[in-house]
Amino acid sequence: MNLLNRPRRLRRTAALRRMVRETSLSAADLIAPLFIAAGQGIVRPIGAMPGQAQRSVDQIDSEIDALSELRIPAVLLFGIPTYKDAGGSGAWDASGPVPSAIRAIKRRAPELLVIADVCMCEYTDHGHCGVLSPEPGSGDVLNDPTLELLARAAVAYADAGADIVAPSAMMDGQVAAIRADLDASGHHDVPIMAYAAKFASAFYGPFREAAESTPQFGDRRAYQMDPANAREALREVALDAAEGADMLMVKPAGAYLDIISAVRARYELPLAAYQVSGEYAMIKAAAQNGWIDERRAALESLIAIKRAGADMIISYYAKDAVRWLAQE
Ligand code: PBG
Repeated sequence: MNLLNRPRRLRRTAALRRMVRETSLSAADLIAPLFIAAGQGIVRPIGAMPGQAQRSVDQIDSEIDALSELRIPAVLLFGIPTYKDAGGSGAWDASGPVPSAIRAIKRRAPELLVIADVCMCEYTDHGHCGVLSPEPGSGDVLNDPTLELLARAAVAYADAGADIVAPSAMMDGQVAAIRADLDASGHHDVPIMAYAAKFASAFYGPFREAAESTPQFGDRRAYQMDPANAREALREVALDAAEGADMLMVKPAGAYLDIISAVRARYELPLAAYQVSGEYAMIKAAAQNGWIDERRAALESLIAIKRAGADMIISYYAKDAVRWLAQE
């Protein structure tokens, strides 16, 4: 039969498929999260995130070397401190796990970019991303008093040598507050990667075990975004861009591809997407049950995030993905 259009003509062989492929994924696109525990000699596997672990600074060298060898350009650091208090003061402790890890990584692999997550939830005893209202029982997370603390933490990470800071607390005005304090302390050249549209997501479940940052009461819906809202996400992005964000982020990634695509269409700034702990855990769990092909599912999920418009992907699959891509 004569058919003018047969799209299958271009799918016949691997070489043809490769030639017409629209989207590519490479090591340069990936950012690997690392959980840094205070203390020594710690490699503590994270149950719900097989293959991931909390590590103390003295145990990260092999991880750093592996990432460098795979030419993954950046790591994103989270800290598990020894002490927590109501004001999250451990967040800007220069001898805390994150500043110590920054110094150690910059010594061992100066070309590996170190991105420091800036949030209070790992450092507050109540587990919220900011300070609480003093009113008994109110449970309100106070926006403006939290800004100073986030800025203080960002400056501490920049002082330790962080290449980029990434505020994730979803407080209004956090990018402007951090930019002002970075500049005032001489860090004009440290870029801000803004968690611009961060949704209140069930897919963060395994992370809260990993970072020991589960809220002791309530949830984060009064500051993180409602998963139902797309227009509001664009508004959040507009505000962060106006406040001086150098890079934008959408989080989670897989269930928010429409948001990634809409941000890509409207903004020129580099765009990151965060494939979060629950997205990783779902693929891992299904694969461990023999229900899904891990390698194919993971690479498919990553290429879909790129196709939607992300320039960079923060993913717990970063190392595996680069190894799998090398075998293709
Ligand atoms: C801190 C923060 C969270 C994640 C990144 N930064 C947790 C949260 O907001 O509850 C989640 C990352 C992941 O699930 O992989 N605010």
